[in-house]
This record gives sequence, C-alpha cells and structure tokens, in this order.
Amino acid sequence: MPRVFSGVQPTGNLHLGNYLGAIRNFVSLQDEHETIYCVVDLHAITVQQDPAALREQILEVAATFIAAGIDPKRSIIFNQSRVVQHAELAWIFNCVARLGWLNRMTQFKEKAGKHRENASAGLYVYPCLMAADILAYQADRVPVGDDQRQHLELARDIAQKFNHDYGREFFPIIEPLIHGQATRVMSLRDGRAKMSKSDPSEQSRIGLTDDADTIARKIRRARTDPERLPDEAALADDGGLSPDLVDARPEAANLLTIFAALARKPVADVVASYAGAEFSRFKTDLAELAVASLAPLADRTRSLLDERAELEAILDSGAERATAIAQPVVNEVKRIVGFL
Ligand code: TRP
Repeated sequence: MPRVFSGVQPTGNLHLGNYLGAIRNFVSLQDEHETIYCVVDLHAITVQQDPAALREQILEVAATFIAAGIDPKRSIIFNQSRVVQHAELAWIFNCVARLGWLNRMTQFKEKAGKHRENASAGLYVYPCLMAADILAYQADRVPVGDDQRQHLELARDIAQKFNHDYGREFFPIIEPLIHGQATRVMSLRDGRAKMSKSDPSEQSRIGLTDDADTIARKIRRARTDPERLPDEAALADDGGLSPDLVDARPEAANLLTIFAALARKPVADVVASYAGAEFSRFKTDLAELAVASLAPLADRTRSLLDERAELEAILDSGAERATAIAQPVVNEVKRIVGFL
C-alpha cells in the first residue's frame, strides 16, 4: 500500500478551509493507503508560540483529526516533537539543501515579510524539516494544499540530491496529491483571499469550534455581490465553475464551492438548484447545511478534549508506531552519511 504522510500546524484554531481543504481528504485516504498524520509542533515554533496555548492546540488538532473520522487504529496520529528522527533528519537535510533553493521559497518571503533580518533561522529552514517529515517515513504520497507545492518540490530536490551525492537510490520520489479546486476555501470577506487563520477578521473564517449561531451569522454576513446566483452559463466544460465566474464573482463562486463540498455534491448540481435565486435564500440553506455538518464535528472534538488522558494515550501510541518506522530509515541515513 502506498504510504501517505501529511502534517497540520497547531497554530491558531482550525477553520473550514483546513477541514474541507485537508483534513476531510485525509479521512478518505485511509481506505487505500497506509496513512500517517502529524501535528507539526516543531514547525509551529518557527514563529513564537505561547507554551500553554501550544500544548492545547496540539491536543485540539489531534482531537479534530479523530472527530473528523481519522481512525487512530488505522492511521498513525502523533505530534512531531515526540519522534526525534524528524529533527535529526532535518539537520542532515539542512546540509543537503542549498541556500539558493531556500532563497526561492515564496512562503518564507511572505511570512518573514519586511522584517526578514528578524525572522528565525528555523523559519528559513522550515522546508528542510518538512522534507524530513516526509522522507523519514519514505512516504510517497503527500496530500497538501496548493500553497505547499513549492515546499514539496524542494523535498523532491533534497531527496534527489541526497541520492545523487551518496550514490544510492535511497529516497523515493514524492508524489504531491494537490487537493482539487473544489476544496479551495476562500475568505468570507474577500473571495480573492484564502480563508486563513492569520486574517485579522474573525468574520472571514468559520472556525471548527464555532457554535451553531456563530456559523449561521458568519454565513448570513458573508460578502456577496448584487447579482443573483448564476445559472449553467457559469460552468466550465468539466462541470466545475468557469474561471470567468471565479474571476468576476469570487464570493459567489466561493459560497457555491463551500456548499458543494459540504453537501458532497458536484458544484453543477448546486448551481442547477439555485440558478437565478437570491443570495438570501441560498445563504439560509448554506447556513443550515454548515451547522448540520460542522456542529457535530465541534461536539465530538470537545468531548475528545474532555477525555484528555485518552487523547494523550493515542498520541503516545502514535509516536511509538511512528518511531518504529522512522528510526530504521534515519539509522540507515546516518550510516550512509558516514556517522559511527
Ligand atoms: N507546511 C505544511 C503546512 O503549513 C505542514 C507540514 C509540515 C506538512 N510537514 C509536512 C505537510 C509534511 C505535508 C507533509 O500546511
């Protein structure tokens, strides 16, 4: 079975974009893959974190994974810092990756912003740690959002350079599994910006722990445009929304996309049902649908968080199972490199 690895950062609360864009996809991959899902706390501290909040957020991400349907028996769920091989292999990869490669990373430029001199060295070598995450398990499939594509390409380059420098076909070629267009969730305030935890407006995102009233209110207040909902003319040949629609009416496109994803229907069906409708009616239905799918997820997450000892036991056993895979791989890497 192909091995899947992915990671989610325990920074800030998870939102609808994380769920539809990543976590829900992780659930379905369990059927035909060996799946390893990691709460990447080492990545989290590349920017400053409050220790108490970090601990809670690690547990919250793990609880959300399980609440969403990731089965801790079938999948390995753990937090990164518990498996030392991540940090060990990352160091070796720091010595394989070239400064020129890292200098091209657009996410570093965005995150470091104008204060580049003040960014942590960890933020700079973040992609080397991400490569280590994947390659410590010799994982071949990595589900990520489009924003992580460049990091995956770097991981591939690291694997290839390692293989080349040491004259061994040791690391596999990583296949990105980029989530489809259908799950790219945009801000509720601006259809051209990704839904993001770093957006200062709470109204821009639906949190996975928001209560029913909050979810409904955010959807009712979501930005739209003055027109009615589009008809079939808005569809592309492949049945998805046409690029013209997405470009001209990004908010309408986003709400239709969210509706289709939550209803697990093709977007063409949703367009057909609401062609020419007022946004108010559509939003009422969307709010109902969102509450019906997200409120139970929030409830399950909360009750898992209440059973803290159980959750910690799941992370313990996940770390143990992860170590059993990563340790022999990294031991072999150390031998190849020439360590005694
Ligand atoms: N960088 C990823 C993100 O921010 C998280 C991540 C860390 C990851 N390590 C990974 C994703 C390994 C896939 C594989 O979304």
